[in-house]
Order: sequence, then C-alpha cells, then structure tokens
Amino acid sequence: MAANGHNGRPTRPDLVIDDQERGLFRIHRSAFTDPDILALERERIFDRCWLYAAHESEIPDHGDFVTRRVGGRPVIITRGRDGKARVLLNSCTHRGAVVCRELRGNTKVHQCFYHGWSFTPEGEINGIPGEDAYSEAFDRNERRLAEPPGGTSVYRDFIFVNFNRANDVSLDDYLADAKDYIDLVADQSEGRMEVAPGTHAFSMKGNYKIAVENSTDGYHAPTTHKRYFDYLVKSNAMDKGVMFAMMASEEQYQRFACKALGNGHSILGRSVGPWGRPMAHWIPYFGEERKARFEEMYRKAVERLGEERAHQVCMCSGNLLIFPNLVISDIMTTNVRTFYPSSRATWRLPRGASAPRRRRRRSAPSASTVSSPSLGRAASLRRTTWRRSRIASRATRR
Ligand code: FES
Ligand SMILES: [Fe+2]
Repeated sequence: MAANGHNGRPTRPDLVIDDQERGLFRIHRSAFTDPDILALERERIFDRCWLYAAHESEIPDHGDFVTRRVGGRPVIITRGRDGKARVLLNSCTHRGAVVCRELRGNTKVHQCFYHGWSFTPEGEINGIPGEDAYSEAFDRNERRLAEPPGGTSVYRDFIFVNFNRANDVSLDDYLADAKDYIDLVADQSEGRMEVAPGTHAFSMKGNYKIAVENSTDGYHAPTTHKRYFDYLVKSNAMDKGVMFAMMASEEQYQRFACKALGNGHSILGRSVGPWGRPMAHWIPYFGEERKARFEEMYRKAVERLGEERAHQVCMCSGNLLIFPNLVISDIMTTNVRTFYPSSRATWRLPRGASAPRRRRRRSAPSASTVSSPSLGRAASLRRTTWRRSRIASRATRR
C-alpha cells in the first residue's frame, strides 16, 4: 500500500483495496483514525443519509416528547395535536439556547429557559415575553422551531430524518430491500410494536465504523462471545458446540452469512438459530409449562401471516444494519441501536434490549445485554452511563 500522501498518509485511492480477482479486500488503518476522513464522513454520509431518530411508540400521545442527538444535532421528537410525529431542532430561534432540557415527558409548551420564548409541540411560537417591543417586520412564523431540511419520514413506525437540504431520495427508496426485513420485525406484533421507555447509553473509545462492521460480522461470535454462549449452554438455552457447528460447513456458514440489501444496508443471518425466541420459538429453557402458550402464539401467527411468513417472523433471527448507523438486532430479543461519531476515536451508542413485554420475564437472555460489557472492555471502554437498560416491545393497537 502506497504511503505517499500528506504527512505520510496513504492517498485516498489507496485507502481501500478491493481486488475481486485476487480475492483481496483491505482498508488502511488511517480510515479509522484520520480526522479529515471523519470530517468527510460526517459531511457525505451523516449529513446526506436518512438517519433513524425514534420509534412512534415513544411518543404515543399529543404533547409527548423525547430529546436526543441525531446526526450530531440536538432534536425534540414530539407528537402534535394533529397526531403527527415531528422532529424539531432543539435550538431556540431567539438566540440558539437549547429549548428542551428533559430527556422525555409530556408538555403543552416547550419554554426556553434563557428569555422565556415558548413553542408548541408543532414547533410554532406560543409566547414571547415583551413581544410588542418587536417591529412590524418581526414574523412569528419565521421563528418557529426548525425541522430537518431534508425531511422527516416514517417506515413501519421507525421515524427517520434527513439533514440534506438538497435531498431528493425518499425514505422508501433509501431503505431499498431493507424494508422487507423491517417488515419481518414489525410483523411480530398483531397490532403495532412498542418500544418501552429506557435507554442504555454509553461512549466508547473506538471508531464508529467498527460498530457498523461488527454488526455485519457473524464470524466473531463463537470466540468474542464465548462466555455468553457458555452461559447459554449451562442454562440449557442452547446445545453444546452448536456455535462452532454453525461455522463448520459452507452450507451452515451460508445460513448465517451477511447479505447486501442495497444502499449500504445488510442483513446478517435471518435463519433459524440454535436459541429460542420469545416470539413463538420455544426451546426447553423456556419451561414445559410455557410450551402450549408458544404453540398457540405460533398458530395465531400462521393464521395471520401464512405458514411461510410466520416461520420467518417467529423462528428466524437476523441482525439488520440500516446504513449508516441503525442496527435492529432481532435475535433472542429485539433491540434497536444507534450511534454517532463524537470524535474520530469515540462514538456514542444509546440502545436497549427488548422482548415482547408480556413474555420478557422468562425470555432467553439477550446476547446484546449480556455481551456489551465484554465488547466494552475489548474496545477500551472510556465512560459507561447506565440508565434503565431494557426497552421492550409489545403488541399495541391505536
Ligand atoms: S435564547 Fe431562547 S428565549 Fe432567548
Ligand atoms: Fe458481537
């Protein structure tokens, strides 16, 4: 690999070697450490792609809101009087202070602490102290809270935003074949899925692309997560040796291989795993006394979805990556993870593990929940913030 660029860095064309003829694919390490590359990634990826912001169920009622950073920007995700979910930039249109400083709640107005301007959940100005001192040129409408310039769009209750003013790609087109796999997750519910409150958030020293790449990598599981799989075997939640058997033949390997879904999205697996799933895939670990209930759930799923789709939805596991930073891990449980690079060597990951709420007490332990501390140590955990860690999904009807 040539190293003749600025400061001895490789030139851009040398960063990635994709030599299909010789079967070589290599990425230069500076792609994970160079601040110029991160700046380009922010501009060309995070400022242009559709980014996951929240799930509709997090804000079920008028005035409900959650706040978080999406694509490096502080936002309020809230439901207006018209029942529509909105994403508003959490930056006061007076002098730019953060308007809402709570993580979640319900309110009729968001009031900025600095000079007291207040805004409705639709983003309109609600009140301005001393407003009559402004000239006639002052336009309230112009001062409403801004929305992401490239749009807000929803697919199966997953709310996405786009910060590219010139965006001309619909969310539908952007998601490409990944939509089918989001459908498989959402179809677990007879009604709609619900993400239960609570987030497990932490920062890690390491390039965010490692998290992206790891989400497409089944190869590491038997070794990196050995302790977890040993625990499953001990708990009768998995047959001994099955993880290594998964890698033992081309046929087995293909079952758990990663497939491209277009636009950088991918699915790892989506086949019957050696573990149970609270969504109607019974294993002895769940207990004989629950077997009939699982069978009943499966029967109802077949009634609702047909045999083939019910098998996919209930029995098959998969790790879905929506480029660039959403992972829907639908394995023993279902959980949603998202992350953003706060510097070239640090990224922040708020996420939670989930299982259908009415069954989660006796669900198989979540790989993510159990494995995250070991991943943290491997990547030099810098700071871990434990909030309520579990989010759950359940069938809801609205
Ligand atoms: S900055 Fe918000 S009211 Fe002045
Ligand atoms: Fe892993």
